[in-house]
Amino acid sequence: MPLTAEPLHPVFAARITGLDLTQTLTPDQVQEVRSLMDRYAVCVYPNAVSLTNDQHIAFGRQLGPMQRGRVLKVTGRQERLSDWPELVDVGNLDPDGKIQAPDSRARAFNNGNRLWHTDMSFHPNRATYSLLNSHLIPPSAGETEFADERAAYDALPNAMKERIETLVASHSIWHSRMLSGFPEPTAEEIASRPPAEHKIVQIHPTSGRKTLYLASHASHIVGMPVEEGRALIKELADFATQPRFVYRHRWTQGDVVIWDNRCTMHRATPFEDLRYPRDMRRATCRENEVVEAFMH
Ligand SMILES: [Fe+2]
Repeated sequence: MPLTAEPLHPVFAARITGLDLTQTLTPDQVQEVRSLMDRYAVCVYPNAVSLTNDQHIAFGRQLGPMQRGRVLKVTGRQERLSDWPELVDVGNLDPDGKIQAPDSRARAFNNGNRLWHTDMSFHPNRATYSLLNSHLIPPSAGETEFADERAAYDALPNAMKERIETLVASHSIWHSRMLSGFPEPTAEEIASRPPAEHKIVQIHPTSGRKTLYLASHASHIVGMPVEEGRALIKELADFATQPRFVYRHRWTQGDVVIWDNRCTMHRATPFEDLRYPRDMRRATCRENEVVEAFMH
């Protein structure tokens, strides 16, 4: 049975029904999921119940090489989902299921997700799809916003398109973390994840569309004075996150939202994170097979 797509925004994002995410997909279904991603870039799959961790991982594995293990070290952080190294914990719970302490480094790290970003742009092997499943959501607020960087690129003035065509940005997770109030990174943290460079205009490999590739991780433009590069990154990010390019997702428990990091940005929005538990788990597909040594 073909999937049904109901657009959620004039330029991208759709709600998809007709797929059982707990079952192995047929090759045709995998192709359809991918085609919908190429068209909409953000696909919302509503589910009555959250996936089990194993179902979540199995679903993601069908869509590309999967991230497994940590790609960076946060000093002192205890991993709640350490039995499932494919899953990233983006909620606000500690390993005992309690809300993270106000002064915890893990909380400060996750608060960096409130800046517009693209998952793993700080890595040479980029993230393709992120699959985020909601297990527990606060009673209000805590939406996730997405921006369509293809539509933003299309809308840029030609002079700007020509100016940025060949520019390369350097992306560092520690840059975005310090922007959002994370303390000075430790030597262990810095050594665990050096910066990566990526062109800021990319051709999306499976749709062929041109797109911006931006993130709060972008610290400067290679070969340009730092402040000039930062001003340009800010100008482009402000342009790309205008309301006409942004879909705001209000979560329902059980939702699986898939976004394509190669052509969208996203950000978490605030909620009372010291009062309400929020349990969100992310699986991530990568552009190339993961060959790095496993990091716990
Ligand atoms: Fe993210």
